[in-house]
Amino acid sequence: MAAGRESAAAPPRPANGSVIDRGQAVRAYRANRERTRALFEMLAPEAYYERPIPLRHPVVFYDGHIPAFAVNALLKKGLGHPGIDNDLEALFARGIDPADRKAAAASDIEAWPPRGVVRRFVERADEAVLAALASDDIESGRNAVLRRGQGVFTILEHEAMHQETLLYMLRRLAPEMKKRPQGYAPNGAAARPPEQRRVLVPAGRATLGAQAEAAPFGWDNEFPSHGVDVSAFTIDVHNATNAAFLEFVEAGGYENAALWTPAAWRRKNEAGRAHPLFWERIGGRWFWRGMFGRVPLPPAWPVYATHDEASAFARWRGMRLPSEAEYHRAAFGAPDGSERAYPWGGAPPDETRGNFDFHRWEPAPAGSYPGGVSAWGAHDLMGNGWEWTSTPFDGFPGFAAMASYPEYSADFFDGRHYVVKGASPATARPLLRRSFRNWFRPHYPYAYAAFRCAADAR
Ligand code: AVJ
Ligand code: FE
Repeated sequence: MAAGRESAAAPPRPANGSVIDRGQAVRAYRANRERTRALFEMLAPEAYYERPIPLRHPVVFYDGHIPAFAVNALLKKGLGHPGIDNDLEALFARGIDPADRKAAAASDIEAWPPRGVVRRFVERADEAVLAALASDDIESGRNAVLRRGQGVFTILEHEAMHQETLLYMLRRLAPEMKKRPQGYAPNGAAARPPEQRRVLVPAGRATLGAQAEAAPFGWDNEFPSHGVDVSAFTIDVHNATNAAFLEFVEAGGYENAALWTPAAWRRKNEAGRAHPLFWERIGGRWFWRGMFGRVPLPPAWPVYATHDEASAFARWRGMRLPSEAEYHRAAFGAPDGSERAYPWGGAPPDETRGNFDFHRWEPAPAGSYPGGVSAWGAHDLMGNGWEWTSTPFDGFPGFAAMASYPEYSADFFDGRHYVVKGASPATARPLLRRSFRNWFRPHYPYAYAAFRCAADAR
């Protein structure tokens, strides 16, 4: 789907002693830039200063931010280079994640630079980054930002994550502001939902995180590796679908305070939410807000919902969300006690395993990827939408902030964000690894975040 045939952000592979293969790093950077460029190219000019998500900066920010981040982290911080334009590098340094619109107003930028100014900066930044990747000492041990190629991986994966941010943001733009690509077809929109079933995952140990020495790269929140004992539980083999969630809506789930925590109830009421943000009700009928237009609500697609909505739905069913460790057991555990790299085993991810890596603009019907089923028979644990967990985002025991981007995770260890695991249609393949963790606020309604219900085993 979203432009760029090559595997953008593919991790540079180790070659004789060194961690970074320069040629591969250059290709990955270029492929990333190409995919980002294609996303911007699909926009009408007036979309550039739009702010499709009031809790995030306008579109223009992302144009400047991605290369500015590479300049700040790799060139300035890592290599000690002067950079290109200190003002723009400061303006484009970081995004925002305010709790509500009032807090967002505090981080408003009065006037964003003209597009030409941003574009010239982007071109110069790309040139400088590519030159560094091609010939600078990018993985020297002389500073922690560069050690084992951390800075290079950081900028590549950072851009890949922002492609997902851009996609869920651009969905909020009016369809008239986007060029619909040839061949866009929301497949499976009329498919019937698969029958929901629960499986028992027996008590066992889940390994969370990764070993720093063993992994080519991971973000700081992925370390260190540690075992967690998990009691037996049951879990749905499928994500909650739009059809299932519609039953909850029609049963008055949004009007039943007993299903929501007091905080979630308050947040829902403040936002005036009566259904997931991805849904629209027109003329008494339900629609899905597709990237390029409405489609009648696809019953078999996973519902994209907030943590608050997902938790209320689970409670309505007499269930709950799985914890992060339970997600690991369901996704990576196996009856023989082993743990796998991916839900389906050890084979690298490809398009038969799940809906990820930009192959589709939209979700697929739940259960569309038999090649991605976990050892317990659970579908879509990696792909088709992130999976909400009940676990507040925090550092693992022994957490240490990373040198290339020390604020990356630590700024969000506030008990006000929850871990999501897996991947969405807009998650780049290099981010698909067992230890990768993502997070959002519990009432953030924009992300491609799905969920499934779990319960204690009786
Ligand atoms: C890890 C996806 C929550 O998009 O806010 C990008 C990633 N951090 N730039 C986000 C990120 C800084 C982050 N998430
Ligand atoms: Fe960023």
